[in-house]
This record gives sequence, C-alpha cells and structure tokens, in this order.
Amino acid sequence: MFVPALLAAWASLLLAPVLGAVTWTATPFNPASVPLAVRSPYLSAWLPQGAGTALNDAWPTFWTGSILGWAGFAKVDGVAFNWLGVPGVPGTTFNKATQKSLQFTSTQSIFEMTAGPVDLTVTFLSPVEPSDPVNQSLPLSYYSVSAASNDGKAHSVQIYTDISAEWVTGDNSLTANWTTTTGSVLTHQVQLAAQTQFGEIGDHIQQGSAYHSTLNTAGATWQNGQDTVVRAQFINNGKLTNAGDTAFRAVSDRWPVFAFAHDLGSVTGATAPVVFAVGHARDPAVQYIVAGGALQSRGLFFWTRFSTVASAISTFLGDYSNALVRAKAFDAKVNADATKISADYASIVALSIRQGFGAIETTVSRTGGGFNTSDVLVFMKEISSDGNVNTVDVIFPAWPLFLYTNPTLGKQLLLPLFEYQATGQYPNKWSVHDMGASYPKALGHNDGKDEAMPVEESGNMLIMTLSYTQKSNDLSLIKTYFNLLDQWTQFLITDSLIPANQISTDDFAGSLANQTNLAIKGIVGIKAMAQIASLLGDTARSANYSSIAASYVQQWQKFATSSDGTHLTLSYGDSASWGLSYNMFADKLLQTNVFPASVFDMQTTWYSTHANAFGVPLDTRHTYTKSDWSIWTAGLVTTTAVRDLLISSVRKYAADGKSSQPLGDWYETTDGSVEGFRARPVVGGHLALASLPDSMRH
Ligand SMILES: *[C@@H]1O[C@H](CO)[C@@H](O)[C@H](O)[C@H]1NC(C)=O
Ligand SMILES: *[C@@H]1O[C@H](CO)[C@@H](O)[C@H](O)[C@H]1NC(C)=O
Ligand SMILES: *[C@@H]1O[C@H](CO)[C@@H](O)[C@H](O)[C@H]1NC(C)=O
Ligand SMILES: *[C@@H]1O[C@H](CO)[C@@H](O)[C@H](O)[C@H]1NC(C)=O
Ligand SMILES: *[C@@H]1O[C@H](CO)[C@@H](O)[C@H](O)[C@H]1NC(C)=O
Repeated sequence: MFVPALLAAWASLLLAPVLGAVTWTATPFNPASVPLAVRSPYLSAWLPQGAGTALNDAWPTFWTGSILGWAGFAKVDGVAFNWLGVPGVPGTTFNKATQKSLQFTSTQSIFEMTAGPVDLTVTFLSPVEPSDPVNQSLPLSYYSVSAASNDGKAHSVQIYTDISAEWVTGDNSLTANWTTTTGSVLTHQVQLAAQTQFGEIGDHIQQGSAYHSTLNTAGATWQNGQDTVVRAQFINNGKLTNAGDTAFRAVSDRWPVFAFAHDLGSVTGATAPVVFAVGHARDPAVQYIVAGGALQSRGLFFWTRFSTVASAISTFLGDYSNALVRAKAFDAKVNADATKISADYASIVALSIRQGFGAIETTVSRTGGGFNTSDVLVFMKEISSDGNVNTVDVIFPAWPLFLYTNPTLGKQLLLPLFEYQATGQYPNKWSVHDMGASYPKALGHNDGKDEAMPVEESGNMLIMTLSYTQKSNDLSLIKTYFNLLDQWTQFLITDSLIPANQISTDDFAGSLANQTNLAIKGIVGIKAMAQIASLLGDTARSANYSSIAASYVQQWQKFATSSDGTHLTLSYGDSASWGLSYNMFADKLLQTNVFPASVFDMQTTWYSTHANAFGVPLDTRHTYTKSDWSIWTAGLVTTTAVRDLLISSVRKYAADGKSSQPLGDWYETTDGSVEGFRARPVVGGHLALASLPDSMRH
C-alpha cells in the first residue's frame, strides 16, 4: 500500500511504543502484553505493555490490537487519580496514579498503583477451571480493586470504572443499545442493535452482549452515557447519578460508557476488594455440521447450570473469594510443577495458560427443552493466523496444555474432527485440516479443499489419540473411531517415509519434499496405531505396524542424516540443511521409542552449537523460530544444558519489550523481534515439559 512519506513519518511517531524506563517491579517479568480479561476468543482484553507501559499509559486492547475502552479513576480525599486506561476528560483535572508493581501468575495479573496517600491493588483474575465445564465455559472475568493508606492516616476513597461499547463490535460505526439492571447486582448489558449470528467483523463476534457488573453494596452507584460526561460526573462528585442515557447510537458517536462507582469510605488498612465482572456472552455459540450436512446450533456449557446470564453473573460475583482461593491453588500447583524444570520455564508457562484457554469454548447440544450433556464438544479458534475452527495442527502444538490440565478437554477438542469425518462427508483419505474456515462456523470441508497437510494432520490425530488414551485409560475414542484411525495409518504407510512436496504445520516456511520432521511424525503415527491396535487386542495388526515403523526408521536414518553424520537434515539429501526435529518429542511423550537414543543425542549436540542470541532457528530456510517448537525440542534433548538454552531463549524473547502484542509464538532468533502471530493457543505447547512424567524429564 502506498503511504505518503509525511503521513508515514507521522504514523510511525504515533505508533512508536512508549519507551519510558520501567519504574515498577515486575514479577516474573514485563511481558509484551499483559492478560487482563482473557477467557474466550471474544473476551480477550490485554494491556499492550511493550518496553514499559503502565496500566494507565495505554488503553487496553482486544487481542487484535483494537482498543477496548476501559477506564478507572479513584478519588482520594477529593482528589481524582486515573489508574486504568488513558481517558481525556475536558474541563476536569486529575492526577495519574503511579504504578509500583506488576505481577502475573497463570490466572492473575496484579498491579499496585499509588494514588497520593493511598495504594490501590488492582487484580485481574481470569479463572482457569479445566475440570468443571460450567465454570470453564463462563465467558466472564473478574477484576477487583482494594485500597490501603500508605501514610498511616485515614483517607476518604471512592473507586470508579467503566467499559465502552467497543466491547461488542469490530466496527465502531455500528449502533449499540443497552440496558442497566439494578437489584442485588448492578449490570450494564450492551449489544449491537443489528446482530449477525456466527458473524465476525475484525475478529469480534457481531452477536450477543457485553456485560459489566458489580454487587450492589452500600455506596454503589451506576451511570451510562457519553464518556466525558460520565467520567466528569465521578471526577467532580465521587459518585454517579444512577441514571441512563437511552439515545442509542453508534459506538463512536459520543462514546457511550457503562460505569460503576463504589464508596470505600474512610480507609486506613487494606480494604476488602470491590469486585467487578466483565464478560461477553452469546447464544447460540457455535454452528456445527452433523450427518447429511445438517447444521446444529450449540450453546456454551454454562447454560446447563444457569438459565440466564444474570443468574450466572450473580453466582460468579458472589463466588469471588472462593474463586480467588481456587485460582491461587491452581497457580501454585502450576508454578511448583514448572519450577521443577526452572524459574525461567515457570515464567513462560504462567504467561501461556490464560492465552491457551482463551482460544477454546466448551459447548453442548440442545434436545427439546434441555441439553444433551453426553454431547460435549470443545471448539478452538485458530486466533490470529486465520481464524479456522479446531485446526488439527494448532490443537497439536497446544496439546500439552490439555494433557497437563485435563485430558478430557483434549478428547472434546478431537471429537468434532472424528464425528465429522465418521459421517463420510469429508472426501480425502487423510485427516482433514480443520473443522471450518471461519470461527465459530464448524461447517467442515465437504469439497475436500481444506488447506492440505496430509501427513501432518494424519500423524497428529494418531499421536494425540494415543496420548489421550494412555493418559485417561479411556478406550472410547480408539474403539469408536478405529476405522478412521486405521485409514489414516494406511495413508502414512504409503506417504510418510518419502513425503511428497507439501507443507507442514509451519506453512509460512514454505513447502518442501522429503521433510525429515514430517517423516518422523508419520513414523510415530504408524507406531501409535500399532499401540492402539494392541490396546484393542488386534495383535496381528499391531505387530505388522510395529515392524513397518521399525523398518521405516532404519531407512529414514539413511535418508535423513547429514553425510558427515552430525545432524538430521531439513530435507533428505541436503546435508547443509537442518531444523528443529520437534516431532521426536511425540516419540518420547508416547514412549513409543521408535527412534534410537543416538539420534536424540546427535540433535542435542547439534543444537548446543547452533543457537543465535534468541534461540535455535526453526530451520535453515530462515533465522526465525517458533516458541512452541523450541519448548517441545527442550522436551526431547538429552542434556539439561541444551534444555535450558532453549527455555532461556524463549524467556529472553518473551521479556524483551520489543513488541506490545499478546505473546507471539513466531519470532526472530537474531534480535528477538516478533513475526506475524499473536495470542495463539499454540503457546499451550509451552507446557510440553510439564506434561511429561517426572521420570522422563532431563
Ligand atoms: C465452579 O464454580 C462454583 C461456583 O459457581 C464453585 O462452587 C465450584 O467449586 C467451582 N468448581 C470447581 C471444580 O472449581
Ligand atoms: C437492542 O437490540 C437487540 C438486537 O436487535 C434487541 O433484541 C433489543 O431489544 C434491543 N434492546 C433495546 C434496549 O433496545
Ligand atoms: C446425546 O449425545 C450422544 C453423544 O453424541 C448421542 O449418542 C445421543 O444420541 C444424544 N442423545 C440425544 C437424545 O440426542
Ligand atoms: C526424496 O527422497 C528419496 C529418497 O532419498 C529420493 O529417491 C527422491 O528422489 C526424493 N524426492 C525429491 C523430490 O527430492
Ligand atoms: C501390513 O499392513 C500393510 C498396510 O496396511 C498391508 O499392506 C500388509 O498386507 C500388512 N501385512 C500383513 C502381514 O498383514
């Protein structure tokens, strides 16, 4: 696109990150973007942090980078302080609170802000409750604010927050409408006046409603209306009018905001927190192809316990203190498990968990007036790379997150793929790439023209299915879908030792024939089917596939080893080439042991001398790498030194302040700058080491 030079210079000034030196303590580090409310593909609010942006130095953004209006003020002894967002309020004066610290855990981001003689603690909690599908599917996040005097004296404190209608659309010229309900809970509900079921604009769903809620405790007030009017009301008066503006209008027309204020009264020691919920819910949530091309509309699983969003919000807000206890226990468990590897590893894992869960939604089908709770399917949005539904080679890198937290989620992610292909509507003999081109429409690919990754996806399905079965001892997937699994194995037997010119999951790197790493995947896939057959008592088939896998490994070693015997090549015969052979991690995870230990040792030695400043490149075609595959590789190398080299490289990149977007898995190893991806669920792959049994870690 042509950009006039002047305009371009102006734009680059405007977009330059705030490079102020960081003046607060960060634990464990300042990430490029801090998760604030990250629970679903459509509830995904972040603080773009870059090299040092405080909570009140920028607007929170949707994962795409578009602004989500979200402002916070406090009044302390009559003096106003801004602690969230960067609102301008003409005709008023206020100070900026000073950020003292930032801490993130797996579920929380906690900021301490000094507002004159009072310190505010602002906690953003996005629960991760993988064992409870109701709780996990609730598209709601908490945030809370507590205050404490920092000079030993009592101070009068009021707290204010609002959200804008930017939370309901990717097009701010569209008309929103809203209602505020009062009772024991105060709730602002905002939505587009014209809804599009299952439709997105700029990755925002154009359906359903945003919610902003708080308990209606003594001293709570509310207001909605023009941003500058509502904010000025609080700044000048320390409370709101309990009145609304019903001139429904475009999101950007006199920016309507949806606000609450709480009066904390006279504050000395730390107060109990005032708690808010922010969310985005829609119904139905996902469209899903079933037999004969019929389309099913599925709801989020929370509807099985709550008949209205209002009752879900009321329970959610009332449960905050328990939810915080559960979140702290979850954070502590993840941290303890990951710290067994290293502190660097624990920090990467903590940053990855909300991002991974923020791409999935647990759904249920309806039957008559109720729900079929035996029919639970999880859907994943391939955030940022193309918006596909349940992409097999995106579930695959993310797999360790589900294996670690609850393997049933893994099964429920695979089920749509199995069910669809078992209907016979997908025409190819290999595994489909995804369940639909655009989330949340899981319409399949009856024309067979999905992005072709035949060896990649067939191997992935076999590996994940055996992994689930081993971890859960549940034989249902392998019993029900044995024929499909065997069909994909047949394909791998003909097509994976000498892989045709095709792409792998790393499609951005280009297509190539004879990819060593794809052949690894295919061979582990064949061996996985041998074990699946064995689990079902089909010993003849098991022995046959085992011997095919063993014979392929022998041939593969000749094709894939460089002529000087120092490393595996990227593609057969190209001795100068090499890459991260991350698919060998699957051989270790499944304990299939088809590849000789000497190959693991050889690769370990090779990587020890082939790292750039920010890690080992993905392969010799480029100098970029992938954080997920780097950590998978850390899970397969045979020395602690190389494992830690790979881990510390990812941590160095994640903390380098060179971007302000939600964690990107694709980055440059020479200087630690980010490539095109952001906020993708593949960071679930950072759990690779945590998902291995202790006995299998180096
Ligand atoms: C789910 O949330 C409810 C409150 O709505 C809570 O009582 C329950 O313990 C939670 N379940 C799990 C497994 O944490
Ligand atoms: C807002 O728009 C929705 C969708 O068209 C409609 O169902 C609802 O009744 C409207 N609400 C108000 C308060 O006008
Ligand atoms: C409920 O779902 C299960 C699993 O998909 C299915 O076998 C069963 O037929 C469904 N029941 C009804 C009443 O639709
Ligand atoms: C792939 O590798 C095999 C075995 O080395 C070789 O026979 C074949 O020519 C290669 N194909 C291509 C396209 O390079
Ligand atoms: C082993 O499996 C291959 C691929 O399905 C098949 O062609 C071959 O006949 C089988 N061999 C035996 C002994 O069953």
